[in-house]
Order: sequence, then C-alpha cells, then structure tokens
Amino acid sequence: MKIFGLKDKKIIKTVNKIRTKYGFKNVGTGHDVSHGDEVFKNMLELREHSFFNKFEFDIIGLAVMAYAHDMYADEDRKNHHILAYKKILKRKPKFLKKLSDHVFKNVCLAIKQHRASTYAVGIENPYVNIMRLADKGKPNIDDIIIRAYLYAVENNKNASNSTCVRITLKHLLDKYSYDGYAFKNDIIYHELYTESIKKVCEYIDNMSVSDLSKIVKYLN
Ligand SMILES: [Fe+2]
Ligand SMILES: [Fe+2]
Repeated sequence: MKIFGLKDKKIIKTVNKIRTKYGFKNVGTGHDVSHGDEVFKNMLELREHSFFNKFEFDIIGLAVMAYAHDMYADEDRKNHHILAYKKILKRKPKFLKKLSDHVFKNVCLAIKQHRASTYAVGIENPYVNIMRLADKGKPNIDDIIIRAYLYAVENNKNASNSTCVRITLKHLLDKYSYDGYAFKNDIIYHELYTESIKKVCEYIDNMSVSDLSKIVKYLN
C-alpha cells in the first residue's frame, strides 16, 4: 500500500508491517485500521507545523504509535492504553528493536498517555503531544457523536435506548463542552483548530436529549 506521500521503500515496507500487525483489530468500534491510517496521516501533517518542525521525529516510531495505541480498545476500553503500552514495552518485533532507546522510550510514553482523559497539563514531550493531537484530529461533530453513542451502547448492553442516549449526552458534555476535558487547557489543539472547536462546543452545549435521540435514530 502507498502511504501518505512517503517515498523511502524500506520505510514504507516497515510501516506496512506495523499496520498489518496492530491495525486490523477492533472492527466496528471506530478503532480499527482506518483510525490508525487517519492518526498516522495526521502525524505526518502535524510534523510540518511550527509546533513540531524543530523536532526530528522517527517515522517508524510514529507509525507504531498510530497503529498500536488503540489495539486493545475493544478488549478493555478502560485500560487499553496501559495494555498497549505493556505490549510495546516487551520490544519483541524487529522494528521495535531497531528504534533508538530514546525514540523507543518516547513511543512507549506516548502510547501510555494518549488518552484525552489521562492528559497531564504541561507535558512537553513532542511524541506525547503529536500522538494526542493526531489521535483527536480535527474535531468532527458527526464522528464525536457516533463514537460516543456506540460506546455507550456497547458498555450498557442491558440498558434501553433512551438510557444510552442520556449516558451519551452526559459523556459529550463532560468531554466536549467549553469546560470539557477534551479541549480544556490544550493550547496547541486550540490554536490548531480554533474554529472547529468553537463549532463543536457550541453544538454540544446546546444539544438536548431529544436532539440526540433524533441524530442516533438511524444508527439502530
Ligand atoms: Fe485510545
Ligand atoms: Fe485513537
């Protein structure tokens, strides 16, 4: 597969290996290989941004982060970042052994800290930051709502649809309203996507249970 403008054949071959090894899990929850592709593409773009262009990122390291960070999202959503971190930490595949110790350490750290909810303000590590930003991507209201709803349904199997809608709305407000933890104190993210964030926050802050019920109706 051709990968996002990469030219070096050796790198492309290794990225494809990583993609195949980690990316094809979690079909149906929004954490499968297409999410890995999206995150990797975002990383390659973000490298050029003024926040990051002074750093020399290792492309193989970025690919591992992009395709491996959510590999346990289906199995154990709550601890998936820790499980992925522990798996990578074993440093088994050849492509991990070939990374420098410095890059490897940062790749592990970025996977461990990729979740918005576990983000510690003030982290200055470029691998952690690029991971987090690429994972969130440009805020897209449709994606945000669909993911939140599917997650609520998946984790509340015996609940009625209206209960799932209420759980989804609470999660959306906690995470994506003006004071939500997805955007709060995240200066780089705000600067990158000011307008899109504003739109998402406004939309979520004004959304009612009945609005959300109508939106998710076609998903059932
Ligand atoms: Fe994740
Ligand atoms: Fe992710």
